[in-house]
Amino acid sequence: MAQVKVGILGAGGIAKVHTGILRRDDRVQIVGVADISADRAHALAGEAGGARPVGSLEELFDLGVDAVYVTTPNTLHVEPVLACLQRNIHVFSEKPMSTSLEGARQIRDAAKVSKAIYNLGMNRRYASVYKRLKELIASSELTPYLAHIKMNRGELLQPEWTANPQVTGGFLYETPFHLIDLCRYLFGEVESVYCQGRQNLSAAELDTFAFVLSFTSGTIANFVTYAHAGWSFPFESVEVYGKYATAATQELEKVMYAPGLKQAAQLHDFFQVPIEEKWGYVEEDRLFIDAILYGSKPPVSAEDGYRSIQLLEAVYESARTGEKIELFKYAE
Ligand SMILES: NC(=O)c1ccc[n+]([C@@H]2O[C@H](COP(=O)([O-])OP(=O)(O)OC[C@H]3O[C@@H](n4cnc5c(N)ncnc54)[C@H](O)[C@@H]3O)[C@@H](O)[C@H]2O)c1
Repeated sequence: MAQVKVGILGAGGIAKVHTGILRRDDRVQIVGVADISADRAHALAGEAGGARPVGSLEELFDLGVDAVYVTTPNTLHVEPVLACLQRNIHVFSEKPMSTSLEGARQIRDAAKVSKAIYNLGMNRRYASVYKRLKELIASSELTPYLAHIKMNRGELLQPEWTANPQVTGGFLYETPFHLIDLCRYLFGEVESVYCQGRQNLSAAELDTFAFVLSFTSGTIANFVTYAHAGWSFPFESVEVYGKYATAATQELEKVMYAPGLKQAAQLHDFFQVPIEEKWGYVEEDRLFIDAILYGSKPPVSAEDGYRSIQLLEAVYESARTGEKIELFKYAE
């Protein structure tokens, strides 16, 4: 394959980010951009340099794409992903994988038999601050006994559909899903979750959550997330506590590591790094194209994505029932 021919389905905000990155990759040619809005498809196709604006996934297939980026709103991921996998067309799906366990299961099963690669866009795993945390934990420099995690959203006003749980799948499937997935990435699989949820400002759903996670590794974590915090800094942070040691992130900008008593703390500040790099998009796109061209492991597989949906659904179940949920009951 000389160049990977990519089609984009859904020409909104995040599609613009991926398009900007893929355009600079000589191994990629963006051949088509599809959107139900002809104006949006035209505008992004213009930015993609020679891509054809079209109205549907079928028209992207007609252009002979090797891979599709699915960048439609949350509840519109499963159907196009399955259509790609059935045709053995590689697919990069934006998060979330699905907004139900059943949808995630269908994708996982389809990915097992497809000759194509499925990759889930969990960019936080490749964000500069979280790569640093992962390194500290993987190298055993920091043993994570306890973690304190916050992932607030400022509003559910932009894009407009984020206020509608019929389109988001529920608030947890919005920004909180990033750090729900990241918890598994950093601390391993979860054994149990106990959540308290409230409906404060949203008309139709729970928008306030506090939960406790117990991991099989022995780590315990508390996680708070609220939908309408007004974007006050820091709205996203992870603190990890080990043996006389602490690592703490502030947004996707800074990470501090205090390695022990009477030692200086180390600060990594990524302020000047371009957003698409420090938020992990550049690396996840590169790894997806590497996987297509060289057969390397895709960044986040369907099995991995499925487990994060299991965890998210367990959080909702605990919030709704008031019960502690043991994750093994979801195992299969
Ligand atoms: N990884 C991240 O950091 C990140 C950031 C933002 C959004 N996202 C995810 O990306 C997805 C898109 O979010 P966004 O902010 O770009 O939304 P957006 O509203 O800006 O863009 C979505 C686009 O999809 C189009 N669309 C809707 N239905 C369609 C259909 N059936 N066929 C073709 N096009 C259709 C819309 O017209 C719109 O142009 C969401 O799932 C969101 O959760 C991820």
